[in-house]
Formats: sequence, structure tokens, C-alpha cells
Amino acid sequence: MNPILLHMKFFIDTANLAEIKEANNLGILDGVTTNPSLMAKEGITGEVNILKHYVDICNIVDGPVSAEVISTDYKGIVREGEYLATLHKNIVVKVPMILDGIKAIKHFSKKGIKTNCTLIFSAGQALLAAKAGATYISPFLGRLDDISANGIDLVGQIRHIYNNYTFDTQILAASVRHPMHIINCAELGADVATCPLKAIKALANHPLTSSGLETFLADHAKGNS
Ligand code: E4P
Repeated sequence: MNPILLHMKFFIDTANLAEIKEANNLGILDGVTTNPSLMAKEGITGEVNILKHYVDICNIVDGPVSAEVISTDYKGIVREGEYLATLHKNIVVKVPMILDGIKAIKHFSKKGIKTNCTLIFSAGQALLAAKAGATYISPFLGRLDDISANGIDLVGQIRHIYNNYTFDTQILAASVRHPMHIINCAELGADVATCPLKAIKALANHPLTSSGLETFLADHAKGNS
């Protein structure tokens, strides 16, 4: 287990402000991840609106908020990432897993800018990102499952590799689709799971809890009628 791991963190994987507020109000939210597709889904387009939306999210949640660059060349990633980092102290620059991205992560790491290396689908990619000093790496569980690979196995493999050394890079399990993904991530010691609100809320469900509560309330009503 990662020695710096104090407790598992829950991030919400959305750009929807109402969902972010709802998760934050539960008192268990540690941060937020977004990506260009999630921003587009909320109808947030145009640079000014996108940047304002990141600040709006930062004003709701007191924790890391991943904002993804759209440049794919080293200079562009650095320029964009350095600007994103000025928006709010909690911004984490999300950088794609490409060689120019790795080079940029090394640059950000030297400057103390936090990064999330996204689109991780193999242990080799996770190793490279940790070598560059990424703050987080995002293995995409659901998308691996979608192609009949095993996303959870990848989390275990990365945990094993990171535990062999003193990398500070945190495993941020992404593309989480359901509560079992979250539980499997916890079993394997993922530092963070970023989840849809629905998957977080589903952790609370159990039919025996529902029926047990129903009985308790009915018995209380009988005794007090
Ligand atoms: C978050 O960092 C990722 O971009 C996100 O979890 C991807 O999820 P998806 O595979 O459901 O689109």
C-alpha cells in the first residue's frame, strides 16, 4: 500500500454544477474531474465560458479540479497548462498520455504545477507518467472493460509497480461506471476513484437496509399508536 495513502478519495466525474453541489453536500467529496466531452455535454463551449466554468467548479468544491488541455504539442500544452493553473489554486492540469504530454508533465512537475495524466490504458504508460512526476494518473477502467479487457486488473498492476518504488504519483481510477468498480478500486488501494454521482449514491443501497428500516419504522409506529 502507498505509505502516503491516508484514506481513499472520491472525486466526481462531471461538469454538471448541480451534481457537483449534490455530491459536495453529502460531505464525502474530495475533488472533481472534467474532460472536453463532459464540458460539451453541459453545453459549455468557447474559451471564456470554459475557463469561467472551471472557476465556478472550484468555488463549489475545496479540492483538486482537473481541467484538461486541448493542445497536443509540447509548447501548446505548457502554454495552456500554465494558464489553467493561474485560474485557481486547486486546478490540476489534465494532460493526455502522449510523448509531448510526458515532456510537459516533467516541466509542470519542476514548476510545482499539479498534473493528471489522462487516457492511461497500460502499465507502461503509468510508469512513464510517474517517471515524469505526474501528480495523478488516470487509468480508464470502463473503456477497457468495453473492449473485453480488464480495467480493474490494470489498477492492481499499477499499484504493484508503484509500491515497488517511492513514486508519489497517485492512482486516480477513471471511467468508473458502477459501484463494483469503486469497491474493487478500494480493495486494490487506488488512491482516488472519480465517479458519476449515480455510482457514488448506489454505494448506499442494500435491500436489507431498506426492508430493515421499513420494519423499524413500522414497529415504532405500532408502539406509539
Ligand atoms: C475522467 O478523468 C475521465 O475523463 C472519465 O472518467 C472518462 O470516462 P468515460 O470513459 O465514461 O467517458
